[in-house]
Amino acid sequence: MLVLGIETSCDETGLALFDNEKGLLGHVLHSQVDLHEAYGGVVPELASRDHIRLILPLLESLFKKTGVKKEDVDAIAYTQGPGLSGALLVGSSLAEALAFALQIPTVPIHHLEGHLLAPLLEKDPPTFPFLALLVSGGHTQIIHVKKIGQYEIIGDTLDDAAGEAFDKTAQLLGLGYPGGLALSLLAEKGKPRFDLPRPLIHSKDLNFSFSGLKTAVLHLIRAQENLTDEIKADIAFAFQEAITDVLSKKCLAGLDQTHLKHLVVSGGVGANKQLREKLKTELSKKNYEVFFPRLEFCTDNGAMIAFAGAMRLETSLKRDLSFIVKPRWQLA
Ligand code: KG4
Ligand code: ZN
Repeated sequence: MLVLGIETSCDETGLALFDNEKGLLGHVLHSQVDLHEAYGGVVPELASRDHIRLILPLLESLFKKTGVKKEDVDAIAYTQGPGLSGALLVGSSLAEALAFALQIPTVPIHHLEGHLLAPLLEKDPPTFPFLALLVSGGHTQIIHVKKIGQYEIIGDTLDDAAGEAFDKTAQLLGLGYPGGLALSLLAEKGKPRFDLPRPLIHSKDLNFSFSGLKTAVLHLIRAQENLTDEIKADIAFAFQEAITDVLSKKCLAGLDQTHLKHLVVSGGVGANKQLREKLKTELSKKNYEVFFPRLEFCTDNGAMIAFAGAMRLETSLKRDLSFIVKPRWQLA
């Protein structure tokens, strides 16, 4: 079973081919980061136009790179949501049109399910059930993954997502957008000088709150007479320490609470080196194991969508079988 995966929910155009027996045959990706940087965030209309411009050339290059012909594809998985409507429409129309022409099924995928399952694309993946930490620009969730399609959210953010906190703090430090990676690189040059709050770290539940941390950074910046590069690096260091402390403590608590042994980490913030190291160290102390996707599959990509599609087809969770009737349906 060969599945083509299409991801266009936000500012990355990603396409991939996944084969149930041979694994990932190849993937192609175009990031629009440069396009949106000047605006300090993703501009939806520009994102849709860029997806339209690049999706067909990218598809051609994927077929060329892998030597696969479109007639060889058995099913098409695509991100149906959540995301930007215009951007989502580009991927879905290509998927549905191509599937109609080839007379093959489509598998609409939830973007976060793609992220959740991305670590399973690696060698020696964990088996179900496991705990997942989903940390992206829009989400910070701890999820009990029972099997494909059975996800129980047991921890969530009450305000900002982890990636959002990284990006907003990076912006306060003048690091551009999105600033997660830039902030973590700056933090590597920093020293322990400042102490920032670790919100909800001792709360009994598995929820997060990061907006206070961002505000604490703002106050710290304002309190500096001279915001030198050295001080900026020390602030970045303190911020990264605080946020990764909270994330790893909550993951440990989640594992204790669910009696699960394996944690998978996914989403853009999962690329953070400090978070990866802290989780490895802290979890190994209690004989828990942590799994990450390779760095390029932490952020949005087509491979995770092709993979999720293949998993759903394998477990026959292809489509939601529900349908609706329209008791009040205007003829016009
Ligand atoms: O999963 P993703 O690509 O997009 C969403 O679906 O949100 O995540 C993007 C987020 C951004 O907030 C970005 O700043 C953050 O992931 N990010 C990082 C790192 N790389 C990306 N945050 C911290 N450290 C990194 N190395
Ligand atoms: Zn994402």
